[in-house]
Amino acid sequence: MQYRKFDKPGFECSTFGMGTMRLPLLKNPDGTTNYQNIDEKEAIRMIRYAIDNGVNYIDTAYDYHGGNSERVVGKALKDGYRENVKIATKLPPWHAKVYGDFDRLLNEQLSKLQVEYIDFYLLHSLSKGSWERLRDLGILEWLDKAVASGRICYPGFSFHDDLPAFKDIIDSYDWKMCQIQFNFLDEFEQAGAEGLKYAGAKGIPMVIMEPLRGGKLAAVSPDIQDLWNQAEVKRSPVEWAFRWIYNFPEVNVILSGVSTMEQLKDNIRIFQDATPNCMSQEELDLVKQVKSLYDSKTKIDCTACEYCLPCPSGVSIPEIFGIWNDASIFGITKDHYKQYSKLINEEKDAQQCVECGNCESACPQHLDIIDKLKIADKELRV
Ligand SMILES: NC(=O)c1ccc[n+]([C@@H]2O[C@H](COP(=O)([O-])OP(=O)(O)OC[C@H]3O[C@@H](n4cnc5c(N)ncnc54)[C@H](OP(=O)(O)O)[C@@H]3O)[C@@H](O)[C@H]2O)c1
Ligand code: SF4
Ligand code: SF4
Repeated sequence: MQYRKFDKPGFECSTFGMGTMRLPLLKNPDGTTNYQNIDEKEAIRMIRYAIDNGVNYIDTAYDYHGGNSERVVGKALKDGYRENVKIATKLPPWHAKVYGDFDRLLNEQLSKLQVEYIDFYLLHSLSKGSWERLRDLGILEWLDKAVASGRICYPGFSFHDDLPAFKDIIDSYDWKMCQIQFNFLDEFEQAGAEGLKYAGAKGIPMVIMEPLRGGKLAAVSPDIQDLWNQAEVKRSPVEWAFRWIYNFPEVNVILSGVSTMEQLKDNIRIFQDATPNCMSQEELDLVKQVKSLYDSKTKIDCTACEYCLPCPSGVSIPEIFGIWNDASIFGITKDHYKQYSKLINEEKDAQQCVECGNCESACPQHLDIIDKLKIADKELRV
């Protein structure tokens, strides 16, 4: 495992951080899964395996797996594991209506994690609007008090908005770390490479989320694979995606959400090589070509984060966009129609939408979900 120094706190963290938003799930008798039903035994085995193999940064959040991710992380960190890791978790701005909610939420999280303090405490998924609301509620004063009380060590934030909003937040407080979405498709999106370098130049440790665009960069169509095959050194699409990120010296930790032990082992192997400036110019040019091909085929930039769920009308938004993108990237087949027909039978299809707008205000990618659902429905309905 490679490590990079967090300048502000002054210690090193593993370049691979364990994300816990996509832990393995238990299967229902009919083969389906529920996002909140984590396969605890396997998840704990995976978290401990990661730590035993050098990972010392674990990322969770109040809402992941319907609140169960923090509980499972707490259990995994028993038996001496807590002492070997830094825990990052997040305050959900959407559950904080009054100043007193900050304390209530943090205390609940300490209790679910079964710890006395949290290393990195992030304001979750900040945008210009949620930042201004939290700031007006007194969050900065509260963060200082929470640090003084010893319940949190290093305040930070995670971010989903545009570059000006990012710079404004970065400049507003003495943040000890920051988490952004970053991968080769998003070099110029949200905070992007410019935001990464801006914060990095101020000595703020940078943690990366969605490095594989929620898994979308792992499965590739034949024409994208053909492009990857042109590289002199052969690597999997997952390895190229991670390498492109850890090539940036400003990156400290890359969070990987793994849903199986095989993925975890694969990523630990890939991160043995996680050194800055490891990509040649030819390799960087190849990634640019792959990005152009992806851009030309992607219908909608949904990362399947599920922040838009539950939809009050039951629309299975990320699933619909997943089928639609897959059909576009890999070519539409009977399978895509079949998957969408299943959603129609279960009344989870796009036509259930009553245009309430809840999903669009929750979506960190600011997608025009309502309009895109209508187009997806036209293309996938038989
Ligand atoms: N603060 C925020 O706003 C926010 C938002 C998003 C994420 N996060 C955090 O950042 C972490 C990382 O984001 P992410 O989970 O979206 O990461 P990601 O790496 O973009 O996507 C994870 C998915 O990639 C696939 N994958 C991972 N390793 C693989 C491998 N070796 N081979 C094949 N497929 C592989 C898996 O997909 P399948 O499960 O489909 O196989 C896995 O669930 C999260 O877990 C969470 O802790 C925070
Ligand atoms: S706008 Fe439509 S898809 Fe979005 S939450 Fe409302 S009903 Fe659901
Ligand atoms: S539509 Fe937006 S909020 Fe919903 S899963 Fe996709 S990216 Fe996430």
